[in-house]
Amino acid sequence: MTSELSAACVLAFDDETAFAARLAAALEIPLHVVDRHRFPDGEVKLRLPSALPPRVILLRGLHHPNEKLVELLLAAPGARELGAREVTLVAPYLAYMRQDMAFAPGEVVSQRHVGALLAQAFDAVITVDPHLHRVRSIDDVVPQRRGVALSAAPLLGAWIAQQVAAPVIVGPDEESDQWVREAARGHGLEAASGRKLRRGDCDVSVMLPDVDVQGRAVVLMDDVASTGHTLAAAASQLRERGAASIDVAVTHALFVGDAIERLHQAGVLRVWSTDAVPHETNRVSVVPLLATALRRDR
Ligand code: R5P
Repeated sequence: MTSELSAACVLAFDDETAFAARLAAALEIPLHVVDRHRFPDGEVKLRLPSALPPRVILLRGLHHPNEKLVELLLAAPGARELGAREVTLVAPYLAYMRQDMAFAPGEVVSQRHVGALLAQAFDAVITVDPHLHRVRSIDDVVPQRRGVALSAAPLLGAWIAQQVAAPVIVGPDEESDQWVREAARGHGLEAASGRKLRRGDCDVSVMLPDVDVQGRAVVLMDDVASTGHTLAAAASQLRERGAASIDVAVTHALFVGDAIERLHQAGVLRVWSTDAVPHETNRVSVVPLLATALRRDR
């Protein structure tokens, strides 16, 4: 154990204990679980261990984020009252990052305000593949605090290289370009990304890159899949262009509603994801990535 972690614990909520236990084991530090009580009217009461070490690593994946944000705003100051001098948020999935500008007059820039709330509560925020598009760095999202943005793209690249012989990795939009290139690097794989036009939550057009996929294995890759419409639109076109196989690899498997079925109907064979968001498609763990970053974070 490093000296920085010698007086630390992982603090987690009861619905994330499996991931939290793996993280605590990787760091060789104790795991404590937050006890939650929900009142009949929906309010929540939290109970933390009565004495906490100086460094608390609070794990909270922010898929289905709304109630969790309130819990975090209670848990962080509560931990400080109980002995923590430094509270780090580990959010393998960081929500509210996509609304990073006002696309129409009057729209609230969620990224800025959720980031400010987190900066108020935590000393550091560590996450994986946050959707940073117009904002350069995670430090800009959590002003005056340490932000650490890790990428699962190399891990997904290694997984893809093991599963598929000589695939081309395709990203559906400009934003995915960074991840597909990172995944392809080191494995000698070809990577390309397209462009996307989003008209609504479930209304997306994808313009694929000019790459010959006839008879080739293709892996579609993105940071996050939610409704699956983006990847399904890309997969349908790849099928029309004669791709030999189409698989999907994403960091964050939100996959709401019938998203997985939509992908298969569009011609996708296999779907793989990291465990940054728990899902049946999880194949690649980000725990070692987070543990390494936490050992380095000072
Ligand atoms: C946004 O640009 C992201 O990178 C994803 O492409 C997007 O969130 C996917 O959403 P959906 O699965 O609902 O199309």
